[in-house]
Amino acid sequence: MKKVITYGTFDLLHWGHIRLLERARELGDHLTVVLSTDEFNRLKGKEVFHKYEQRKYLLEAVKHVDKVIPETTWDQKIIDIQSNDIDIFVMGDDWKGHFDFLSSYCEVCYLERTKNISTTYIKQQLAGIAQS
Ligand code: CTP
Repeated sequence: MKKVITYGTFDLLHWGHIRLLERARELGDHLTVVLSTDEFNRLKGKEVFHKYEQRKYLLEAVKHVDKVIPETTWDQKIIDIQSNDIDIFVMGDDWKGHFDFLSSYCEVCYLERTKNISTTYIKQQLAGIAQS
């Protein structure tokens, strides 16, 4: 069985996220999503709308996702890959090059980001509607 792993916050789940998850899952037979905790997001300077348990609940309802585990530090990727027996590490191409060092442990793959949608964009649009 080919196992795939990907990382992210996945707040205000949108079709760009789903397309990433769909294509990641198609690369193998099992997809693990490592979901940034609220504390780790704070450390990254990201304020989430949906809390970790809510984001996890949503991701677990997505048919492309087989398993969701927490991301609490930048440094856990090698341990995650080894302990989950991962064959392919996947991220959107906004991260291109950042994780090439993981190629000593598994295949590293960057998928094209879906254009014109992001959590930041949704938040900006909603803020605009609230002001008008
Ligand atoms: N992603 C994607 N296409 C988008 C948005 C996100 O492929 N339009 C991918 C990212 O490249 C990443 C994963 O989805 O691999 C999770 O991204 P995340 O940062 O949680 O989502 P964003 O919508 O980019 O959030 P933000 O605007 O807060 O950065």
